[in-house]
Amino acid sequence: MRILVLNGPNLNLLGLREPGVYGAVTLDQIQSSMLALAGELGVELEFFQSNHEGALIDRLHDARDNFSAVIFNPGAFTHYSYALRDAVAAISLPVIEVHLSNIYAREEFRHHSVIAPVAAGQVSGFGAAGYLLALRAVAHLCTGGH
Ligand code: DQA
Repeated sequence: MRILVLNGPNLNLLGLREPGVYGAVTLDQIQSSMLALAGELGVELEFFQSNHEGALIDRLHDARDNFSAVIFNPGAFTHYSYALRDAVAAISLPVIEVHLSNIYAREEFRHHSVIAPVAAGQVSGFGAAGYLLALRAVAHLCTGGH
């Protein structure tokens, strides 16, 4: 089982960026802890981060034939990118939406996700651990869990 882990805008700055909101852990450290769990679960991971909407859309399209599922933190695109929402809907792969922060406990504009209605599920508010929870959720889904 291969899983694509996609991160959107500004997530390359994790560790430096608003640590009071997003924590001190870097994206590299998150990716390392995901690789350790993937080894235990027997799944393969590929990582991609971009600050560009079109690059994220291209990776979602390419995932169609090469991956079983996608773990996706779309960053601020979560709240307004219909193009990313349509790409998620188009690929018919399970996509788990991840947010480090609890988007429902923050500014009003973050309370709405245009991705959530087409995602298999959402993990929000558990910091970097949310990526590990999403990985367990994906492994569960892809082995026939509901
Ligand atoms: C985020 C939440 C978004 O509202 C924000 O724009 C981000 C990060 C999160 O992981 O908590 O860039 O997706």
